[in-house]
Amino acid sequence: MSVSGDVVLEAHNVSKIYGAKTTGPKKGEQALCDVNVTIRSGETLGIVGESGSGKTTLSRLLLGIERPTTGEIRFRGVPLGKLDKSGFRRFRHSVGAVFQNPYSSLDPRMRIWQLITEQFFIEHRLTRQERGAKAHELLEKVGLDAKWENRYPHQLSGGQRQRLALARALASDPQVLVLDEALSSLDVSVRAQIVNLLLDLQDSLGLTYVFIAHDLTMVQHICDWTIVMYRGEIVEEGPANKVFEHPENPYTVALKEASYVGQIEQ
Ligand SMILES: Nc1ncnc2c1ncn2[C@@H]1O[C@H](COP(=O)(O)OP(=O)(O)OP(=O)(O)O)[C@@H](O)[C@H]1O
Ligand SMILES: [Mg+2]
Repeated sequence: MSVSGDVVLEAHNVSKIYGAKTTGPKKGEQALCDVNVTIRSGETLGIVGESGSGKTTLSRLLLGIERPTTGEIRFRGVPLGKLDKSGFRRFRHSVGAVFQNPYSSLDPRMRIWQLITEQFFIEHRLTRQERGAKAHELLEKVGLDAKWENRYPHQLSGGQRQRLALARALASDPQVLVLDEALSSLDVSVRAQIVNLLLDLQDSLGLTYVFIAHDLTMVQHICDWTIVMYRGEIVEEGPANKVFEHPENPYTVALKEASYVGQIEQ
């Protein structure tokens, strides 16, 4: 991990108001307000904040799934709005995502090998044999047994499903992975195994991570830089250790205390 790589992805003065076109007294919901983020190659950026603080909104903007109301997202210095069709396709391949519950987005009738290579297959028109070889390569990367290629997603445990989601995300050889609560529904020991896998993949593939989580200990453990969000704004940011060991903003202090209580209750 390093914090000195090239800038890959940026949010520049980004605001997001859902339903901004609505007129009348209810003018739409401001989910993000003037947010600036710089993500460097090979680093892990942590995003924390209470529910509704704008973490997922920011991740969807960084992924190009949604557009900011004002400001811009830049990929390797180029605003997404300025990319032509093939440039935007390259961007979408370069920035992948894993969400909390990928099961809901996996077609239950498709087998694992099909699920993993689905997107890749559409883009590259692979033969069945090439698709199988690609599936094996990806299964191995995420620590799943190649023999499971013919299984269905419901036959997998929660942790195995997240490995499957990771394999799907890796199919297009991304440079950046956005992990939005990707580990949140896993129990502690499985979570630790997937974290180790993520760290290994980062080392071997030079990946950059945007890691959104409620587990502050985990964020402190794996992130180089952390931003703390509150009601759509970044209220504090810095090296992960500094933010959690010596928080300056009262909101970060409260978040840390709440997380500590949460751990006791678990
Ligand atoms: N599609 C949408 N339409 C309207 N409002 C939305 C939409 N998505 C999110 N919001 C609102 O934007 C704000 C930020 O939501 P967001 O999902 O980004 O928060 P979050 O930090 O990811 O929360 P959580 O920790 O619960 O996942 C919230 O007030 C939410 O209600
Ligand atoms: Mg969210």
